[in-house]
Amino acid sequence: MNIVTRNNIIGVVIAAVVLFVLFSAPQRVRKYYPNDETHNTAATSKSRRNMHEACGVCHFEDGEYPIPETHLKRTRCYGCHSAKPAEGAEE
Ligand code: HEC
Ligand code: HEC
Repeated sequence: MNIVTRNNIIGVVIAAVVLFVLFSAPQRVRKYYPNDETHNTAATSKSRRNMHEACGVCHFEDGEYPIPETHLKRTRCYGCHSAKPAEGAEE
């Protein structure tokens, strides 16, 4: 097997790996937070960038409802969470 063919094979393998990683990226699953005063206030009390501080008061360690160990260690809550829409409302 000459070197050119070998490089082609390596190239194809790399491309396959890259495609696989892209396609298996986690879906943007979202989970709504309750559309209640607590949550809506927390969501608007700070800039979006700092939203996690407001949410963290209750949802980080030592809060009243800490997010599970398995939850992603991400801070921008708004990327995935939004208020639960009213029944029948468009998302
Ligand atoms: C004052 C405390 C408090 C603050 C601030 C707060 N939460 Fe919550 N959150 C709770 C409690 C308590 C629950 C669980 C009880 C419930 O469903 O109301 C909850 C539930 C949730 C849930 C799960 C809902 C479900 O269906 O299981 C999500 C997601 C969530 N909060 C996200 C957020 C986000 C994002 C913020 C910031 C905008 C935030 N919370 C701010 C207290 C808080
Ligand atoms: C990358 C997306 C993503 C980000 C960013 C994110 N979450 Fe979540 N969160 C999820 C998903 C998906 C679930 C539901 C599955 C699970 O419980 O892990 C969830 C579940 C929750 C729950 C409910 C846990 C339970 O007991 O059912 C709470 C509370 C929560 N998130 C709070 C937060 C807060 C506060 C932040 C910001 C610090 C945040 N999340 C950022 C994706 C995200």
